[in-house]
Amino acid sequence: MRQIDIFDTTLRDGEQSAGINLNTAEKMEIARQLERFGATVIEAGFPASSPGDFEAVQRIANTVKNSTVTGLARAMKSDIDTSWEALKGGQQPHLHVFLATSSIHMEHKLMKSPDQVVDIAVEAVKYAKKFFPLVQWSAEDAFRSDPAFLVRIINQVIKAGATTINIPDTVGYATPQEYGALFKFLKENVTGIERVKLSAHCHNDLGMAVANSIAAIENGADQVEGTINGIGERAGNAALEEIAVALHIRKDIYGLETGVNLQEIKRTSQLVSQLTGVVIQPNKAVVGKNAFAHESGIHQDGMLKNRETYEIITPELIGETTAPLALGKHSGRHAFKDRAVSMGFELSDAQLNEAFAEFKKLADRKKEITEDDLFVLFTGKQIKHSEADIYELTNVQVQYGTSNVPTATVAANVPSGENIVVATTGAGSVEAIFNALELLVKGQVNILDYRVTSIGKGRDALGEAVVNLRFNGETFTGRDISQDVLEASAKAYLNAINRKLVKDQVKVLETVSQ
Ligand code: KIV
Ligand code: ZN
Repeated sequence: MRQIDIFDTTLRDGEQSAGINLNTAEKMEIARQLERFGATVIEAGFPASSPGDFEAVQRIANTVKNSTVTGLARAMKSDIDTSWEALKGGQQPHLHVFLATSSIHMEHKLMKSPDQVVDIAVEAVKYAKKFFPLVQWSAEDAFRSDPAFLVRIINQVIKAGATTINIPDTVGYATPQEYGALFKFLKENVTGIERVKLSAHCHNDLGMAVANSIAAIENGADQVEGTINGIGERAGNAALEEIAVALHIRKDIYGLETGVNLQEIKRTSQLVSQLTGVVIQPNKAVVGKNAFAHESGIHQDGMLKNRETYEIITPELIGETTAPLALGKHSGRHAFKDRAVSMGFELSDAQLNEAFAEFKKLADRKKEITEDDLFVLFTGKQIKHSEADIYELTNVQVQYGTSNVPTATVAANVPSGENIVVATTGAGSVEAIFNALELLVKGQVNILDYRVTSIGKGRDALGEAVVNLRFNGETFTGRDISQDVLEASAKAYLNAINRKLVKDQVKVLETVSQ
């Protein structure tokens, strides 16, 4: 059966979307999960864009064994050199180098003539090939480029040694028919196209990214690029889990294999949502929480008689198991450890002890600890929050009454080592907390977005808070989970501040070591 490679760019194009900022530990966790998911290629970041990205790409390249790890580079020697340093430890060093080819990009962004663009692309690919056995070249804004120019430049980059050619619909403008036709045209007109992998990369501005990717496959693409949950710039990228399931369920039509481990879809989606703070719309195909819910009486009746009346995908297919028994306060360490292992977590003894202690505390306050709670608990332990100890909340207290001015008192360990207590008011409880924290962190903070969601169901469900804020000119997202949403909100706020401070510390260390 023909094989379609899956190129995951959750950690690069996905991470590029507004408000997402993952630290290295979180990126590592996602990369490990993408490896289990079965991504053929993992784009781990853009090494030349920041020291943080460089470090994450390097660690992922040195760790992941079953997927090829790549990094993005502009068509310039310095980017390629930096990328080589980050990627050379990988199993099969792979570089993704790009240059825009549409008239609008060449003229207004690059300010280069088409001839110059061809020369730069060829130079970049030749230079990259001195180091990397695998070089993917992308024609940014390919879909809006002149097809004849695309043929000309692709002929040249293949001659220069590119092993994959990517044809992005950068602005999500294509329709399936047009995008498919472009692949057919390139297949028929580019010399040596049969020697390289041809790749599709679709953005979702018109909601057609998945359909366009599949149209490309039908017209000769060997690889599709996208992200988990479809996250990405603006309206996002093609959702890989949707492509993988569509190709599987409609194997009768497509007759293709992707190598994706479909059973890992749910977990991968949950992890990406949890760590990025990007919630999944409830009705999202495949992974939305209502994707398998049947509300209407007629549908429920049909389902009871024969599931196939209304169900084309089973929850089990994507690893959404009927929840095993919830754990409670009488559950022992052994059952707890077994559950961690069966959920695919690899925790050290110390991490397991910490998680068990937290589990016991939680079980005192919550009747049943569900699979969703455990997922959050284990993930939190597996990822060491390097930010945790810069500002650490030690207490939060709020006085609220419908006819009183809400007052918050917060106490936190601060960088000087002291424990500082601050109290102030606000129009509501959350505002009072955020105002008090602003006094504590001594900077200008603007809240850009703030969300609270429950983990799982029930009145005693854990609450997750996500705070997107601007602190001293930079935007960061923080998150935290607690049984009390006000406590989760305060911690999420400090988590965002801590992320900024960790980034500043890294910058200072960089400058000192230069
Ligand atoms: O959308 C795009 O064009 C990209 C390129 C860098 C491949 O993400
Ligand atoms: Zn893109």
